[in-house]
Amino acid sequence: MFWQSMFDEMLDRNGARSGIAVSFRIIRTDIKTSRGAFPGRLNSIMESKAVFCLANQKGGVGKTTTAIHLAACLAKKNRVLLIDLDAQSNASSIFLENDCPVELSVHAVFREKKTAAELAQKTRNPNLDLLPAVMNLAEVETLLAGAVDGFFRLNDALKSSSHDYIVIDCPPNLGMLTVNAFVCSTHLIVPLQTSKFSLDGLRGILETTNTIQKRFNPKIRIQGALLTMFNGRTGIAQALGGPIAEFLHVFETKISQSVVVEEAHLMHKTLFEYNPRSKPAKQYEAFTAEVLNGL
Ligand SMILES: Nc1ncnc2c1ncn2[C@@H]1O[C@H](COP(=O)(O)OP(=O)(O)OP(=O)(O)O)[C@@H](O)[C@H]1O
Ligand SMILES: [Mg+2]
Repeated sequence: MFWQSMFDEMLDRNGARSGIAVSFRIIRTDIKTSRGAFPGRLNSIMESKAVFCLANQKGGVGKTTTAIHLAACLAKKNRVLLIDLDAQSNASSIFLENDCPVELSVHAVFREKKTAAELAQKTRNPNLDLLPAVMNLAEVETLLAGAVDGFFRLNDALKSSSHDYIVIDCPPNLGMLTVNAFVCSTHLIVPLQTSKFSLDGLRGILETTNTIQKRFNPKIRIQGALLTMFNGRTGIAQALGGPIAEFLHVFETKISQSVVVEEAHLMHKTLFEYNPRSKPAKQYEAFTAEVLNGL
């Protein structure tokens, strides 16, 4: 991809290529041991207590579902901003009744350098604000790849944010929008389905996080992997749970596969609104508690 060659070119120019750990294991160790050990290179983040980024370039692993429910659960006691960076707008559609005009969406952060304070929209939950996505968000990938500040626009937009927590739902790729999210995040959470393909995708995430941490955002760390759509009865789920834990902290809470999740999405509701007693609703509450305990 274009941004990747730009990124590589930039690293080569700075003589940093040799510093990038290439082996899976080295990357893991590097990220875990380097927590907080960097001088701030980026004129740093907003006043929020934490910025959570839900990322995995593999599609359909539960990023959006997790972003929605982490944000909604945090919003029970805190002021939260949910940022939808996926052109599919799935997270936005849970909270907005109508499509958002492009000039009021997160698109304007990247195109017109507007701030989150200018764009954040109220939702039916008084503690939860939303920076919605729109379909043509994908076009900003090209725009950002050609801009000198292309990696930093989201970070710049969030500097004036007064929310306690920010939750970012990333698209299923490691393009410029995801890099923008990594540059301003403090905690990366990787939703994983216990399948071989999800494991394959981990390498790209670890490499990207490692590079971002070294070059732009020393504060980012991988908080852990969340097993979603989990069915403990299947052989593959049992067999692969262990190998994932070798590379990443795995949250103790797992999110079960359940039809209630699809139903809630179809009704444009969170699980806490649609069926708060359901197993996944309880599991997302337990997961949020685990996230907060790990800060
Ligand atoms: N625990 C679950 N049980 C059953 N279905 C689920 C569960 N979690 C998510 N889903 C369903 O799986 C699909 C993918 O989930 P989701 O949209 O959260 O993944 P994603 O990683 O954001 O996808 P994308 O990469 O396309 O953005 C959705 O249809 C969602 O309703
Ligand atoms: Mg999604």
